[in-house]
Amino acid sequence: MTQNLADTSRPAATPSAETSTESSAANGAAGRGWWRDAVIYQVYPRSFADSNGDGMGDLPGVRSRLPYLRDLGVDAVWLSPFYASPQADAGYDVADYRAVDPMFGTLLDADGLIRDAHELGLRIIVDLVPNHSSDQHEWFQRALREGPGSPLRERYHFRPGKGEDGELPPNDWESIFGGPAWTRTEDPDGTPGDWYLHLFAPEQPDFNWENPAVADEFRSILRFWLDMGVDGFRIDVAHGMVKAPGLPDIGGHDQLKLLGNDVMPFFDQDGVHAIYRAWREILDEYPGQRIGVAEAWTPTVQRTANYVRPDELHQAFNFQYLGTSWDAAELREVIDLSLDSMRPVDAPTTWVLSNHDVTRHATRFANEPGLGTQIRTPGDRELGLRRARAATLLMLALPGSAYVYQGEELGLPDVTDLPDEVRQDPSFFRAEGQDGFRDGCRVPIPWSGTEAPYGFGPTAGGPSWLPQPAEWAELSVEVQTGDPTSTLELYRSALTIRREQADLGAGGSVEWLETGEHLLSFRRGSFVCTVNTGAEPVRIAAPGRILLSSAEAVAVDGETVLPADSTIWWAV
Ligand code: GLC
Ligand code: CA
Repeated sequence: MTQNLADTSRPAATPSAETSTESSAANGAAGRGWWRDAVIYQVYPRSFADSNGDGMGDLPGVRSRLPYLRDLGVDAVWLSPFYASPQADAGYDVADYRAVDPMFGTLLDADGLIRDAHELGLRIIVDLVPNHSSDQHEWFQRALREGPGSPLRERYHFRPGKGEDGELPPNDWESIFGGPAWTRTEDPDGTPGDWYLHLFAPEQPDFNWENPAVADEFRSILRFWLDMGVDGFRIDVAHGMVKAPGLPDIGGHDQLKLLGNDVMPFFDQDGVHAIYRAWREILDEYPGQRIGVAEAWTPTVQRTANYVRPDELHQAFNFQYLGTSWDAAELREVIDLSLDSMRPVDAPTTWVLSNHDVTRHATRFANEPGLGTQIRTPGDRELGLRRARAATLLMLALPGSAYVYQGEELGLPDVTDLPDEVRQDPSFFRAEGQDGFRDGCRVPIPWSGTEAPYGFGPTAGGPSWLPQPAEWAELSVEVQTGDPTSTLELYRSALTIRREQADLGAGGSVEWLETGEHLLSFRRGSFVCTVNTGAEPVRIAAPGRILLSSAEAVAVDGETVLPADSTIWWAV
């Protein structure tokens, strides 16, 4: 949001209602849609706050920490799944889309959380997982039990195998988590039967979106949560629901390497867009600008823009930006490309640096570039943190919306040395330890105290589902609060300034200013952002008054020294 704290487009005590359109004209960009420049905080419920001391985060825990998020200065909170789930993929395997898993609480807890958030002026976005269900979902269980010919089988992708006895998978697709994307079933009489498709773990069978029952069910699920008062949905694997007709072979192995570069027969098929047009109609029926944000890993930013055409979703994560190295020229290129790609569809760009699936940016930037998003070495921690702080200030200065992943405001690194025995990422097991290091960014948050779980749970010495490093005592919210050099205070200041400065977040373009190698500098109205991605400090003529800086900037002879790996915000 670009408006100040009194912005009337923030949700009031009445959830999502009457918050938007009439204030449009007065509120400029924010009035065109609160999401356009919103800062949205991702809560990973397993790891945020544990209210009952069982070592697992839960909804009452999140609820108790909402004031922290309000004070941090974010506009909305996206919660990763808390639905009934056997947790084969940390909740992205949903057994009942209308129930809260007992480990996270109850529907009443969800209701209370949504209400409290709205009271505090925070919006709530929930995760929707429409590409696949859990294998424990009632439909899939019935499909298995009832055997071939059951109409329930039409709601998933069941196929006979190839080979003499159907012993080979129906096509050559590989699972994103490693191994074949097909698992063979047993018929009710115990003989080997058909195969079913799962782009992820075998416990996550893919829905057949050509079956109208599937589409109907998800429209109903959308309404269920909209009626509960949620302000939007983050759509999991939004690029995956439609498969190319006939499920054609891809040809060749190592298909994962193709992801992100080629259009695959199971990803980013043009047919998915009809689903979003139907969903948009439902979202628009509700007051208060309910939104959809796509998790769509597409080959190009241009293809990402397809998901946010005016009659589709509102936001789509900019993963090309997430994957960009800490390099001025590369950053400038991806920023320009992103803004140019979104302009024709009149959608904001949705910047993101970290989430629950990738190595935290403090660790990505601590390592040499080009290692991807599953990094197993800590690298140079100090360097990583310096760059992460600078990268965040750059992101928060760009036009559009930005997502912040829990713990990045504490400068947390990835935990790269988790013992194998505690790991839970299903791809770690399917890829024989060659991949699947996502647990490293999922370690519970340190809030306070000197003993693990550092306030994550109610008792010192109590459990946490993943162990926290001893150094995290120094990174807790308690330790960082009030320390002007801390990363937490940097985020708080940045978000306060972002609310006060109408030129931050708003609009759809930046005005680049002349700079040297390793430097980026752009103006947005009365605001200038300068970034030094190089390893050497650089002297520049101060363009104005310093508002905020990711590292200490020194004035020398009327010039300002931009430290290595730093970003400065200026009022001009
Ligand atoms: C998305 C989620 C990820 C999950 C996968 C399968 O990419 O973000 O955590 O494993 O979908 O649901
Ligand atoms: Ca708990």
